Amino acid sequence: MSFFTIDANKCAADGLCVAECPMGILTMDHKTPAPVEHAEELCINCGHCVAVCPHGAFSLKTMATEACAPMEPELLPAPEVFRRLVRSRRSTRVYKNKPIEQEKLARLLDTARYAPTAKNTQQLGWLVISRKELLEELAGKAVDWMRDLIAKKDPLATTYRMPRLVARWEEGRDPVLRSAPCLVVTHAPETYRYGMVDSTIALTTFELAAATEGVGTCWAGFLFSAAAFWPPLREALNLPAGHVLTGAMMAGYPKNAYQRIPLRNEAQVSWR
Ligand SMILES: Cc1cc2nc3c(=O)[nH]c(=O)nc-3n(C[C@H](O)[C@H](O)[C@H](O)COP(=O)(O)O)c2cc1C
Repeated sequence: MSFFTIDANKCAADGLCVAECPMGILTMDHKTPAPVEHAEELCINCGHCVAVCPHGAFSLKTMATEACAPMEPELLPAPEVFRRLVRSRRSTRVYKNKPIEQEKLARLLDTARYAPTAKNTQQLGWLVISRKELLEELAGKAVDWMRDLIAKKDPLATTYRMPRLVARWEEGRDPVLRSAPCLVVTHAPETYRYGMVDSTIALTTFELAAATEGVGTCWAGFLFSAAAFWPPLREALNLPAGHVLTGAMMAGYPKNAYQRIPLRNEAQVSWR
């Protein structure tokens, strides 16, 4: 079996799939689309050929046309709704002491997996941490990294006001994970060049999806930086062999409701 099939009764030979293919691996030299040499190895399995066909004639071996949900453009948010979502999303730093339901987290991750990935490689792994002791251990290890930088008089300690952060931790407050009930971590093979890019897009998608479900999030920048430099934190994360941390985000139900949208700088745009 070829890596794709065409239902000859449905194909209108309109060439839409050929024009759409990002890898240029289909031709219309014949009555129906045909693969070029080495097409299967070159295919990135993006499914645009299946998605674009208005006749439901194209199926990939990995993606039958019937398995792909139909587009329902009437369900897309209106521009003003999306703009409102983006503008009203906030970095949540005060969380309710309430876990996020696992099915809700699973749904958010199921949305985030549709975020674009370089060459559609879809190599990200997700680690969802909700165990309180482990969250505290991770935050504590990030604080150990800060203590180490302070002791070494590293300029980073001053830039990021680490003495204040360590003092807060010692007062029983968590400046690293904000006592969030959940930490969502992404990881990717260390040899994969686009791990951080794909992860940032996926976590941004997760963050916006979370906002639609009343879940607050915040990028865990301190934890992320600490993991890069502090082996005990990496060990505690215990990612799959050969994988590196590519992103981390706190999540939980916000304790406070925001009443207004804070101002942000105008976009600095050059029009040419
Ligand atoms: C890469 C990155 C790392 C961040 N790390 C942290 C962090 O460790 N702790 C924190 O409280 N906020 C963190 N933030 C949140 C920013 O401070 C926040 O986005 C900014 O203040 C704007 O607020 P807003 O997200 O509510 O619009 C991070 C944001 C980004 C993009």
